Amino acid sequence: MRVELYEKLFLWLTGATMAVFLAAIFAGLLLAGHHVPAPAGRVDPKRLAETPPFDRPGVVQVGPGRYEATMIAQIWAFNPNEIRVPAGSTVTFRIASRDVLHGLKILNTNVNLMIVPGEVSTLSYTFRAPGEYLMVCHEYCGVGHQGMFGKVIVGPAAAGAAGAAS
Ligand code: CUA
Repeated sequence: MRVELYEKLFLWLTGATMAVFLAAIFAGLLLAGHHVPAPAGRVDPKRLAETPPFDRPGVVQVGPGRYEATMIAQIWAFNPNEIRVPAGSTVTFRIASRDVLHGLKILNTNVNLMIVPGEVSTLSYTFRAPGEYLMVCHEYCGVGHQGMFGKVIVGPAAAGAAGAAS
């Protein structure tokens, strides 16, 4: 079978591109330790009110520049729906749903979680720049879905906080 020169070139180019992408995926898996998200635990959605830490949603400081935000997603709100931390803080979000599938996306960050009923979702993020970060539910969860949002308010860096300049 005769294959045109340009067709041959593009076949090789396509193969080479796929090889580069596959190599990038395996490098991420094996060298950088990337992995697909897995549930950080299980929780009974009907018993959140009596299951620690979800019996006390809120933000607590756990070390210098480190915070833990325990959150509940429910139709159609986040609890708490406002989080305040100083710039330079690393916040570990731990969130569970009380009812249906929700999502948590914090704009201008890479915080992007699915909140599956029965599972605990967790992710850490360091808020370097002060400002207001909108957090929205990005999984359709019913008629009030578009009203399900909150914000992270990052204030000026606290004196002596890890990573704070001078
Ligand atoms: Cu919760 Cu959409």
